[in-house]
Amino acid sequence: MAEHRFLRALRRQPVDCTPVWIMRQAGRYLPEYRATRARAGSFVKLCKTPELACEVTLQPIARYPLDAAILFSDILTIPDAMGLGLSVEDGVGPRLAHPLRTRADIERLGVPDPETELRYVIDAVRLIRRELRERVPLIGFAGSPWTLACYMIEGEGGASFARAKALAWDEPATMHRLLEVVARAVAAYLAAQAAAGAQALMVFDTWGGLLAPAMFREFSLRYLAQIARSIQSHNVASRVPLILFSKGANAHLEALADTGCAALGLDWTISLGAARARVGARVALQGNLDPAVLHARPETIRAEVQAALADFGPHPGHVFNLGHGITPDVDPDRLAVLIDAVHESSATATVRAPS
Ligand code: CP3
Repeated sequence: MAEHRFLRALRRQPVDCTPVWIMRQAGRYLPEYRATRARAGSFVKLCKTPELACEVTLQPIARYPLDAAILFSDILTIPDAMGLGLSVEDGVGPRLAHPLRTRADIERLGVPDPETELRYVIDAVRLIRRELRERVPLIGFAGSPWTLACYMIEGEGGASFARAKALAWDEPATMHRLLEVVARAVAAYLAAQAAAGAQALMVFDTWGGLLAPAMFREFSLRYLAQIARSIQSHNVASRVPLILFSKGANAHLEALADTGCAALGLDWTISLGAARARVGARVALQGNLDPAVLHARPETIRAEVQAALADFGPHPGHVFNLGHGITPDVDPDRLAVLIDAVHESSATATVRAPS
């Protein structure tokens, strides 16, 4: 079978039309997701039951002509497997019962074995690959070491993650020890997802953009590069394209492209054309409409899609997405408008081979 357009685009090969998937495509804006979530009883139970995680992963694939499925899980499965105790409360967000409070807490941490402590995720990957029957490729994912460390130190999502930053400033060696063990855990976890059938891998560095430039290089970028190298040295995972998404970190696109990843995810604060001019010869780009566009009228959504496609230009190497996750208040019919517009508008454009 010819390789799917999503995987071709990640390799910057020509495609018949621009592939599209949506961050958080399996989520609360879908009534079928809310029904399965209610049946599971809790978000964590949903993640930890491979049959249910598989069911919700496939829901957006059944409803829309999407070009990729993404494993239904959460970035906080790793802290949970390290013993920090994850729960997700309605309207509150994720919470860890045992956040890291002392240096001893950090020194105690070990790298979880994906096939035992995170077995439910790896089983979900195997099940989803089987149930997808090659319709579309499956993306596996993990959080970045910096983003996971933020949650592990604070215990919950906060606006500033000041406690995590203070540790980086006051006790850099302790922070590096934490990031080192989390980076090894992330690399092993991603490699296990690839071995179980994930055909692309994505790292969400959601809070990378909170760091000043020198801090970003020392505490986020360095560990993203370590993960990219580790994946490349792994015999199964090395053939699986890696997408890095450092939200709010547009100042560092060149350095991110130099990590050896296949693609960069972009938020909506940079134009695709500007990003492509800086790094497009080295990596594919994924993104990047403002998620709020899905509240606009259908004709506006179509116009914004066309503008983004035109901005990227008639080159290979674009995977369409939003610049961050779809929000729970979106009308599912608006997403159908966006997906159709991506396929229709890009099919009429010429897609040239790389020059
Ligand atoms: O993209 C997908 O469809 C795959 C599923 C996915 C989820 N979380 C499902 C989820 C992915 C890739 C994530 C990653 C994730 N989780 C990130 C990085 C991506 C990003 O958004 O920047 C982060 C920061 C988290 C931590 C987390 N987990 C947050 C901030 C929340 C939302 C809290 C809330 O109530 O709004 C969660 C819970 C979560 N993860 C939900 C979903 C669908 C909603 C929980 C529910 O169903 O009750």
